[in-house]
Amino acid sequence: MAEIQIKHYNKIVFFTGAGLSAESGIPTYRGKGGVWQEYNYEDFACQRAFDKDPQKVWEFHNKRREFINGCQPNEGHRIIAAVEQTKPQTMVITQNIDGMHQRAGSKKVIELHGSLWRVRCDREGTISENTDIPLKSMKCDCGEYLRPDIVWFEDPLDQQKIQQAVEAIFQSDLFVSIGTSGVVFPAAQLPAVAIQNSVPTVEINIESTPLSQLYQYRLQGPASEMLKQLCSDSD
Ligand code: APR
Repeated sequence: MAEIQIKHYNKIVFFTGAGLSAESGIPTYRGKGGVWQEYNYEDFACQRAFDKDPQKVWEFHNKRREFINGCQPNEGHRIIAAVEQTKPQTMVITQNIDGMHQRAGSKKVIELHGSLWRVRCDREGTISENTDIPLKSMKCDCGEYLRPDIVWFEDPLDQQKIQQAVEAIFQSDLFVSIGTSGVVFPAAQLPAVAIQNSVPTVEINIESTPLSQLYQYRLQGPASEMLKQLCSDSD
């Protein structure tokens, strides 16, 4: 049994990274088999690459759409969604763009880094859901290229989402980080926000991270397994 159990808390923030989706078969970004081991993000996931060759960038994102569409939410996603059912003040703050939390049933999800399943027209400033595999047309009706609504490297984060995430942490009584390497800022600052606000913090990861010593509790192991322990009702 984990040395901490969420049954004693009511306003939980789950801060999630690619490691939570690893058990759905979705590669993480760093470490063995990571996306950035195979692809150079400067060629596929930044505004410069998109401006230079939107077709090539969309080919990469269509491939990710096709692959992720064939994956399922895993038990970790489902446990988090179930917690929200019984504890409605639960909030998910995710760095993931795969939409797995929503597919598992989570309703309150802040997608800090956007979503693979939305596109936006930067000329018209419009954002729309789009789950075509592959994208039917790379062009908006106005003629501008549609861009994945994803926060790429060197993109500024949506300040409103950061504010929303910080507010959620201020209101929380437990902060649980799951499957993130804690190396990408400003998202990686969020655990420190929890600590500054004396919210108890838990890190779930299969290995230690540069932020591990910040956390009060550490559950070292696969996300689903550790969440089962953390969220069990047994005494
Ligand atoms: N259970 C728990 N943790 C796991 C598991 C697992 N089954 N498998 C891997 N991990 C951990 C790894 O140890 C690592 O610490 O998940 C983390 C994944 O780290 P990254 O690949 O860096 O993913 P993430 O932290 O989400 O990346 C943050 O970087 O590339 C950008 O925008 C992208 O949102 C992404 C951001």
